[in-house]
This record gives sequence, C-alpha cells and structure tokens, in this order.
Amino acid sequence: MYCTRKVQDDLIWVGADDRRLPFFEGVYGVPDGVSYNSYLLLDEKTVLFDTVDKAVYGVFLENLAHELGGRKLDYVVVHHMEPDHAATLELVLTRYPEATVICNAKIQTMIQQYFPLDLTGRVMLVKEGDTFSSGRHSFTFVMAPMVHWPEVMMSYDTTDKILFTADAFGSFGALNGRLFNDEVDFFGECLDEARRYYTNIVGKYGPQVQAVLKKAAKLDIALVCPLHGFVWRSHFGDYLEKYLLWSSYTPEENSVMLAYASVYGHTENAANILAAKLVEKGVKVRMHDTSVTPASFIVSDAFRCSHLVFAATTYNAGVFVTMENLLHDIAAHNLQNRKVALIENGSWAPTSGKVMTDLLSGLKGLEFIGDKITLKSALAANQMEQLEALAQAIADELAPKPAEVEFAAPAGTAFSVDNVDNKVFSKFSYGVEVLTTVVDGKDYGCIINTAGQVASADPKKITISCIKKNHTCDMVMKAGRFNISILTEDAPYSLFQRFGFQSGRDVDKFADLPYDVRTSNGIRYIPEFTNAVLSCEVIDVKDLETQTLYIANVVEAKVLSSAPSCTYGYYHAHIKPKKNPAPEQKECWVCKVCGYVYEGAELPDDFTCPLCKHGKDEFEHVVPEVKPKQKGYVCSICGHFEPCDGELPADYVCPLCHHGKEDFTPAEQ
Ligand code: FEO
Repeated sequence: MYCTRKVQDDLIWVGADDRRLPFFEGVYGVPDGVSYNSYLLLDEKTVLFDTVDKAVYGVFLENLAHELGGRKLDYVVVHHMEPDHAATLELVLTRYPEATVICNAKIQTMIQQYFPLDLTGRVMLVKEGDTFSSGRHSFTFVMAPMVHWPEVMMSYDTTDKILFTADAFGSFGALNGRLFNDEVDFFGECLDEARRYYTNIVGKYGPQVQAVLKKAAKLDIALVCPLHGFVWRSHFGDYLEKYLLWSSYTPEENSVMLAYASVYGHTENAANILAAKLVEKGVKVRMHDTSVTPASFIVSDAFRCSHLVFAATTYNAGVFVTMENLLHDIAAHNLQNRKVALIENGSWAPTSGKVMTDLLSGLKGLEFIGDKITLKSALAANQMEQLEALAQAIADELAPKPAEVEFAAPAGTAFSVDNVDNKVFSKFSYGVEVLTTVVDGKDYGCIINTAGQVASADPKKITISCIKKNHTCDMVMKAGRFNISILTEDAPYSLFQRFGFQSGRDVDKFADLPYDVRTSNGIRYIPEFTNAVLSCEVIDVKDLETQTLYIANVVEAKVLSSAPSCTYGYYHAHIKPKKNPAPEQKECWVCKVCGYVYEGAELPDDFTCPLCKHGKDEFEHVVPEVKPKQKGYVCSICGHFEPCDGELPADYVCPLCHHGKEDFTPAEQ
C-alpha cells in the first residue's frame, strides 16, 4: 500500500525508508536506517524528481501510481545517478514510456552506462542557468559537481522557492513518519547522524560544497528538499552554518577526539590516563576504541573536534590495522586544520608513531603538538609526567590565551573616587539576559545585563561579566560553556524573581518550569519571553575582583521571536514593581505574581495587572500597620531593604542579588 506525505499541495514525497540496510554504500553502518527521497510535482505537467534505491522499489512504484491518480508522468528530473537514487529509474522509464528525462550531459552518459535503454527523443539536456516550466512552476538548474559525484545538479523552483539539493543537506536516519525538520528535535537528536553523513559522504569535497553554498546564498529559499533525510522548512540557516563549518574544515568545538588501537590494553590504559588528565583540566574529550567503533563515527568526530590524539600499538612492523584504516580514511576525507598528538607503543621496535605521522603528514593545516610519547609494552611509572605534559600542552591551547597585544598603561590621570560620578554608569543602555549552564547534569541560571558582542569575525565573540558570589558564575567557570537567552519586553517580573532574586545554592531555579528545552550543547535555554538564544564556548577569563569576565565564541545562535529586547532601563521603568508605599502611608493591593502595587482601598473586580496580566484573584490586600520608621539601606539593584542604624559593613553583600555595599543608598521604611 502507498505511503506518501505532502510537502505542499502540489508536491508529494513519494520516497521510502530503509531500516534493513546493514551498510550504506557497503561501508557505513546505518543503525537508524536511511530514507530515499523522491518528490512528485502535480503541476500542469507532472514531474518526478529522482527515484529511489532498488531495496524500496515496490512501495515507491505504488506511491508514484497512487499520487499520479491516473495522470501520465511527463518528466523525470535526474539530479544524481548514484544507484541509491537512480536504481529504479529504468523501471520508471519503462513503466511510463511518455516520460522525458531532464538531466545534464554527464547524467545522460551515466544513464546509458547503467541501463541499456533507448532514450532517443526522451532526454532534455540542461546546463547551468537553463530554465524549465511545468505550468505554474518554473525551474532553474544549478550544477553541483562533486556534491557528491561529478554529474550532480540541483533544481531551484523560482515559483515556490524550493531547492532540490540532491545529496546535499541530507542525513542518515529513516524518517519514521516525520518529513519536515521541525517535526523532530534535529539539532538535539539528528545532528550526529547528519554530521556522519556529511563527513563520510561528501567530506572530501569541501571546496565544491563551498562553491554550491555560494550559489545557494543568492537564492531566496523557502523549502529544501534533499534526497535523504528531512525537508527543511524552518531554521535552515542553522543547518547551513554547520555546512559552512564542515566544508571549510573548521572545527565545531574546542575539544579532543582521542582514538586508540590497543591489543592487550596497555595503549588503552595510557589513553585513559590522558583522557582523565584532560578532563581534569576542563577539556572536553570524545574517545573511541578503533577496534570497536566503526571508522565513520570516528571520522565524524575528527571533523567535529579541534584536537586529535591517536594512540596505537605497533603491528607487523607498522601500525595496528584498525588505526591504519582509520588514518587512511581520515586522509581520504581530506580533513584539514587540526592539531594532532601521537602516542605509540611497541615492545621491541616501536614504529607505529612514524607510520601514523606519515599517514597524516599530507593533510593541509595539520600541526603536531606536544612530544610524541613512546611506550615500551606499557606505560612506565616515570612516563606519567609525559602524559601530564601532553595534557597540559593541549589544555593550554584550549584554555584562555594570553592577550595578543601587550598593553602598557600610559601615565595619565590618577584614579580618585571624587572624580567618578557613579550616576554616569546608569546612562549606559544594557540588555537583560538569562545566563544558563549545566554541570554534572544540574542546571544553573541567573539574570545578567552584561552580554555584548565584541568581535564580528567568525566565530563571533561575546563577553559576559558575572558577580563572583553568584553560583552560576562558578558553574560557568567549571562548564566552560553557557547559553544566553535574550529577554523581551513582555517578560514578567516573576521570571526576574526566579532567576535573579534567589541562589542556585539554595533552590532549583528550574523547578516547575513548564518546559525543558536545550541547545545542542545540552544546556537549557528559556523559550518564552525571549527573542534569541546563543550557545557559547569560553575562550578566555579575566578576574575583575568582584566580577569575572568571560570571553566566548558563539558556536550556535538562533532567533526565537521578533519581540523587542528588554533593556535594563525598560526593566526598571516598566517591569520591576514600583516600591511598596510605606505601609503607614497608603492602603494598597499587591499582585502576588509580579509584585505590582495598586494604590487604593478598593480594587475593581475586573482589574487586570498591567504587568503580568493576572486578575484580582492574584492580588493581596495590604492594610498598613502603623509602626515607627526604621533606618537602613536599600539596594538599588533589587530593592532589598537592610535595616541598619549606622554604616553597612565594608564587606556587606545583598542577600538577594549579591551586589555589594556600593549599590546601597540610605533609606527609611
Ligand atoms: Fe545518496 Fe551520492 O547518493
């Protein structure tokens, strides 16, 4: 029975999933299956875009016949002749003898190489920029050689802005009923398989992919229809960003991919010790046993990580076979721009280090770091220092870098408190954000107003500054990464209370939140009352006495809404409740949700809180008590009143927001 899905009213997915394929292209395991996508356009003319692998020909032919509904098939556009998309082309052309093939000359040659078909009068040849109309839809053809074979081309529907991309933007993994990228948590669930697909299938052809990306950048794209994986109808820019990184051989993250080949466990032992030392120094490690993990997964992580460590035993006067295969594979996929360290082992004549060096030395932009470590059978006690030195050398590369510019302070005006009017600092305009991170599976977050972009070259850089007494500040130091959720003007005061006026040491600030959404780094973000989220990797840290300044690369960023950002000034003017009137002065009603104060003895039944929009039920009637005024200090940050007859102690810290004495002014309540 047919199994199809609509891409839009006149474009139907007629492909199929394959979950029984053990190895894609005979080499890449696909534990989650794979989809073969084919699309049928029902315009004035009917047009089929590619066919499918022979493994799923039965349901594909049923799909096609059902969706044609008795109409004839007028055209078959062939974008790519690899048999996972073209094996059933002969069947289609035989079953639909009136169909004309639209393809380029290289594709026509390959059709004739694969199939003994007489295509006389049945081929419309196209080249770069040629156009074709099927009725309402018009198409332009874009040549995409080596993405993934030399004959590959793409089609762009200029009517509905649909780009048919052949293998590009595909992914391993069966669709399982889901057709669109937004029907799945793509960056959470599917990115690893998408990366493994890209790196192993087209990773070698980065420059050619870049050339196609340049062409695609000029197009207005509403839908992307690849031959494997999901149809993209939203957030395509996020996926495009990944392609830009992968195709330029730019690491996605500052981390170490550690692969080892060990026969009796001694090389593995050294690898484990190195991994532990790296993690202790705050370095993220992804580790693989080359005898266990298929090479395609390791190649994928080699594209992902900035630093690679290979540890292998000597074998047959060379290097152990699984490591040899892996390094051949990495070299064949043209990986570039990586830092590499080596550990070799050999009981009598260690040679694996030299062989590994030779296998990798042709890679562009490759740099060996640290001294090669040579084990004789097993790690000797005095070699622990060598592993420590290698771990430190790598950590030094990934940890904060010293300032590139030596700055000599000029002789200038000496600092004097009297020369600095603190009111100046309230003239700055700041945004307000929720800073989040995760350590050992626990989520942390706080409000900050200090995030700002400081460098525009990719990867873009931002800084944030956190109060040291704030628990989230410590956790960012530990995690080395964080998210920034940019708050919008409709953010309720309760959100500020949740993240700003309590400590993660005492409470779980995320308890009872109705959502748990995370970016691909595993850190939560705030999807409501925000307009953007940025995921950042810390690259430098500065101690500013009371605060810590973090400089970070933005590794992922997406827009969540078009609502205006909340500034610190807007928060004070419109969100933060007005100070409670002194109880002896006025009777009032206080909103229990956001703290808004309605002055007066009677609150109308139909009253709605202007801040959080709750009704009268959420208001508490406050009847003033008459009591003597109390002297003290009020925090200009959070409004906390600290009773005090004299001076606040010099090391006084606000129990709510952790700001110091300098943010308090004398007050009476
Ligand atoms: Fe999906 Fe290059 O074939």
